[in-house]
This record gives sequence, C-alpha cells and structure tokens, in this order.
Amino acid sequence: MSRFIFSTVAMSAAILTFGLSHGQAQGSADGKSISHGQSRSGADGKSIFRFDTFGDEQLWTDTLQMQQAIKNVSPRTALSVGLKVDSNALPPAVINAIKAGQVNLDDPAVTTQLLKLNAVIGVIGKVVGANDTLATIGITCALCHSTVDNAVAPGIGRRLDGWPNRTLNVGAIIALSPAIINKAPFQSWGPGKFDARLEYFNGKNIVSLNSGTVPVVIPPAFGLKGVGFETYTGDGVISYWNNYVGAMEMGGHGSFSDPRIGISVTQTPDLVTPKLPALLQYQLGLETPPPPEGSFDKAAARRGEDVFNGAAGCARCHKPPLFTDVLSGPDPRVPFLHSPFEVGTDPVYASRSATKMYRTTPLRALWQHPPYFHDGSAADLLAVVNHYNSVFQLGLRDKQKADLVEYLKTL
Ligand code: HEC
Ligand code: HEC
Repeated sequence: MSRFIFSTVAMSAAILTFGLSHGQAQGSADGKSISHGQSRSGADGKSIFRFDTFGDEQLWTDTLQMQQAIKNVSPRTALSVGLKVDSNALPPAVINAIKAGQVNLDDPAVTTQLLKLNAVIGVIGKVVGANDTLATIGITCALCHSTVDNAVAPGIGRRLDGWPNRTLNVGAIIALSPAIINKAPFQSWGPGKFDARLEYFNGKNIVSLNSGTVPVVIPPAFGLKGVGFETYTGDGVISYWNNYVGAMEMGGHGSFSDPRIGISVTQTPDLVTPKLPALLQYQLGLETPPPPEGSFDKAAARRGEDVFNGAAGCARCHKPPLFTDVLSGPDPRVPFLHSPFEVGTDPVYASRSATKMYRTTPLRALWQHPPYFHDGSAADLLAVVNHYNSVFQLGLRDKQKADLVEYLKTL
C-alpha cells in the first residue's frame, strides 16, 4: 500500500522537481523574467511588487542568515506562520498531489523546492547546485501585502495582491534568525502585525529607532487611489512610505532620508528609488474588493448608513467616497490629522511617527481585515462602534449599533 503513496521525502521533492523540469513558467530569482505582456509600466509595477527584493538579501541573507533557518523549515511550519503558496507557480502534477495529500508537508526539502519554483509569496530564495542548496533569501512587498484565495488548500491558492496578510507572523519568522539574540520583541507581535518603527537597516547594521516595540496591523495596499497621504499617521505619500519600507525595513539596497525621524542613508547603486513610480502605478490600480454576496443584511445596512452619517457622526471624519478627511485641510500638501486623544486610541505609536497624529483611516473592505485600528485594539466591527460610542458619548442603542455594523461590512 505505502508504495503507492507518494508521501515520502524523496517523492515529495521528486514531484516538485518533476513539475519544475516540465517547462512550468518559472520566475527567475529577481522576477525579471516574469512578464505577461502588459504595458511596460503596469507589468513592471506588478513584478516589482511581487518579486523585487531591491537587494534586501544584504539583510535577510548576509545579516540575518535566514537561509540557514529556512532550510530546516517544513512547509507545514511555513504555512502555520502564515506564509502563502502561489498555486499559479505550481505545476498541475504538484497541485494534484497536494490535493490528494501526497506531498509531505513535514519535509523541509519540499520548502526548498517551493522556493525554487518561486511559489512562496513574498519570499525569494535562490536555490543552487546539484544538491539544491538554499543560497540566499530576500523578501518582497507581497510578503505582507498579498494573500491567496485558498483554492487548493488553506494557504495555497491564487494571489490576491494588496490584501493584507493578517495570518502572517512576521515576528515569528524574524525570530528564526540565528543572528537575532533578543527574540522577545519579535515574538510578541503575533499574526498580522509588524513594527516598522522599531529599528532600521542602514546597509551594514540594524540600528535601533525606538526602545520597546509597538506593532501595528498590516494595512491593505488596495483602495488608496485619491487618498493622498499614507500610513496610519499620514507621514507621506505612497512613494515616500514605499521608499522607507523598501530600503530601511525590508533592507533593500537603496537610499532614504527624512530629517523628521532622524534617518539619512545613502546606498549606491540605489535599487529602490528608480522603481517607485512603477510601483506606485501598480498600487493605485489595486481596487478595493467588494463584500462577498450574502455577507451583510441589506436592509440593516441601509439603516446603518443613516446612523453613520447622522446620529453617530462618523462621516464627519470618514467622508465618503474615500471615507477619510486627510485632504480636507486648507493646504492639500499638508495632511489633515487627528490627535490620538481626540479619537481615543494609543498615543505611543503616533509619537514615534513623523506627524505624531493619526490619519482618519480610509475605510475599505473592512469585512476582509479585522482587527481594527492601527494596533488592532478593536477585535471586530462591534468593538469599533462600542469604542466610539464611549469616546464620543454617542448613546447609541443596540439596534443602531447593529445596523451600523452591517453598513460597515459593505464598505
Ligand atoms: C514586513 C511587512 C511589510 C512589508 C514587507 C511591506 N509592508 Fe507595507 N506596510 C506594513 C505595515 C505594518 C504598514 C503600516 C505602517 C504604518 O502605517 O505606520 C504598511 C503600510 C503600507 C502602506 C500604507 C497603507 C495605508 O493605509 O496608508 C502601503 C501603500 C504599503 N505599506 C505598501 C508597501 C509596499 C509597496 C511594499 C514594498 C516596497 C511594502 N508595503 C512592504 C507592512 C509591510
Ligand atoms: C474625529 C474623527 C473621527 C470620527 C468622528 C470617527 N473616526 Fe473612525 N477613525 C478616525 C481615525 C483618526 C482613525 C485611526 C485611529 C487609529 O488607528 O488609531 C479611525 C479609524 C477607524 C476604523 C479602523 C479602520 C481600519 O481599517 O482599521 C474604523 C472601522 C472606523 N474608524 C470607523 C468609524 C465609525 C464607525 C465611526 C462613527 C461611530 C467613526 N469611525 C468616527 C477618525 C474618526
């Protein structure tokens, strides 16, 4: 019997290798070979978002030695920390084997084969030599800002670009690094969170920015067209933040400087800045996904819209159609923001930002990404409503709250 079940170490790797050698579209390590014939800038932006590490192997490989850790990580462990597998990168034979339970998810060699197929979303691993040695690891924007539709199995399916990966445990992954001695801050983050203000990488060293970690929930990268200022604290435009994250947080080989937060790093050649325009175009094209059919009560949602605009006063700040007021100040070059005390949320994260304030979050596909607020302090939409009900002393009745929640599910 067992002879017919492929779930052995050798066969799992063999299935994957078989697929690989049979002409499946295989992305090169830097994704440059991936092109689907779109207009140059659109295609470029997409492949940058999905596959470009900006040379951040200097952090993930040279400094953090993640290739040493990942070569021992089984696919089951990788999936359990929220890493996703792109089914479009898998040969049909492999997809069938996965569906039939014939791929050994406990075998780290299978993880290496998945990396060789460029199938692990947001993780680029170069696999070399006759023994398939994992030589380098780098990460891309898609690691945090993409997920999959789980069409093949949980964590395995088609890419959903721009959807925040709220099961991804970035901190647990970083803590695997043999170079990280004090793992506690990273292990404290939990799934779906990242602290982009704890430290930065200057091309040689990890530099501390703040003591004590304040992780925030990974936001969607969709639905940002027209918003004007990005990040929870409205620090700048999309490209400002992409530049910061690409170079200082992902560890890409690029330059960034902002005197407001005391950072000035120059790296030549700059592998980040020249790509920002194409990356911006791609992000602006990522649309907010509509709520799933049947996921909310239509009549209640209509009543809830009146509560939102009326009794609860939400539209005062969450101005339709983008549901933010960040561009409503006198000077459009200056973001219009709110103090943490005005909205009753944690002041510490804001204090570490360039603006010290919070942007009214543009409400987009709320159904898709609980928990809410920058720190995830509201577990669900009713918790959001209860938060405002007490901070603004709205005196909403239970029925009004329930209607408002149904409306929020539609945004
Ligand atoms: C390790 C996870 C991680 C990676 C990798 C990452 N981001 Fe983010 N991203 C975050 C987090 C967390 C925030 C929220 C930070 C804040 O607002 O202070 C964020 C914020 C954003 C925002 C602002 C969204 C909004 O609502 O204003 C955009 C746009 C964005 N990221 C795009 C990108 C792009 C493009 C890349 C690649 C260059 C990237 N991110 C890489 C975690 C990540
Ligand atoms: C005074 C302006 C203001 C008012 C009024 C206001 N909000 Fe907000 N809203 C904000 C700010 C600022 C944030 C970001 C706070 C943070 O993350 O700490 C926010 C965040 C949110 C979020 C989190 C979105 C996400 O993706 O995490 C939701 C949901 C929300 N508000 C719903 C509402 C509802 C419902 C009401 C009415 C009951 C309301 N807001 C009233 C300013 C406001």
